[in-house]
Amino acid sequence: MVATEIRRELSRRFYVSSRTARAGALRLAYMAYAATLSRGVSLTATPAAVLSLKKRMEQLLEDDWQDAEAGFYPRALIDHLPWREYVSAAPRLLADLPRARSRILREDFNDLPAEAEPGRYPHYYARNFHYQTEGYLGHTSAALYDLQVELLFGGTADAMRRRLIPPVVRFARAQGYSRARPIRVLDVACGTGHLLSMLGAALPGEARLTGVDLSPHYIARARETLPRELDVSLVCDNAERLPFLDRHFDVVTNLFLLHEVPSDVRARVLAEMARVLRPGGLLVVADSIQLADAPELRQELLGFPDRFHEPYYVGYVKDNLAARVRTAGLQVLDERLGFLTKIVTAERPRD
Ligand SMILES: C[S@@+](CC[C@H](N)C(=O)[O-])C[C@H]1O[C@@H](n2cnc3c(N)ncnc32)[C@H](O)[C@@H]1O
Repeated sequence: MVATEIRRELSRRFYVSSRTARAGALRLAYMAYAATLSRGVSLTATPAAVLSLKKRMEQLLEDDWQDAEAGFYPRALIDHLPWREYVSAAPRLLADLPRARSRILREDFNDLPAEAEPGRYPHYYARNFHYQTEGYLGHTSAALYDLQVELLFGGTADAMRRRLIPPVVRFARAQGYSRARPIRVLDVACGTGHLLSMLGAALPGEARLTGVDLSPHYIARARETLPRELDVSLVCDNAERLPFLDRHFDVVTNLFLLHEVPSDVRARVLAEMARVLRPGGLLVVADSIQLADAPELRQELLGFPDRFHEPYYVGYVKDNLAARVRTAGLQVLDERLGFLTKIVTAERPRD
């Protein structure tokens, strides 16, 4: 008994300290990358901010380890970092640096492939978010996106994404979903499919997954990289008009979308997610932390869009995510933070 406890404690400490060290190393790589791209904007954080970031990250890793230990998702998920995928993307990311740097220096966020002709995509979407090559509208962008996010967050991006899984698994278990009666889950703005893949691993054979995203290239990337055995449908469409019937899904998830859209679009997307959720169904929505969540990170949060083209971010961090969810007609059950991510869990009231 004592030996088991000691092994468990050592495993926990090893996980938190090795991931913290890895985050430090990736942070150095990211700073070198950002300095190459920078147009001289200072990256210096205040001591209070540095301490806060460190504590928040350690808490995230601790929660991640505890949730794997509690069986909300397989241990393999927290041990896995897709090194092979990142090693193959790294040379392309480096080769892309001069183009990205030139775009940043020109402050040009309209450098898009020809297929993004006016009128085809919403005005807020057809732009080079983060000054990234092709915006969201190209295969190179889709191939480089995950590595860029991983560098930005010091290797903690998937740990933050996993914060959405325990509420979904708890809900699935409480409602008796199973292989014989799979739960219908929709991930809105699924990107390249990381959350879908991890949800599939957490609910093996028990979930019928659907992902929707406006980028045909990110959808193509998700199709290419998601495990073949996963029951997943991928749809390319706009979250402002979800192509699904009212009340169709048991669970809707949404991650890292709302800070990239204007305020009125944020309201429409939330209303759409509420519409396609069945009464009694669960919404788990997550995005950047907001100003009220971390006053000591005010400078970092407000400074983020100086370095990346993120025109709606400041409006988003001044907003209140849970209040928005309530306005969409849902009942908020829980609000929590995971490092730089805020997760709001809500239920659609029964009729
Ligand atoms: C920051 S990425 C997040 C992707 C993914 N959820 C993740 O965890 O990495 C934002 C995603 O939102 C998608 N997106 C933006 N506006 C959208 C809209 N109106 N409808 C559907 N998807 C949209 C983009 O194509 C992109 O894949």
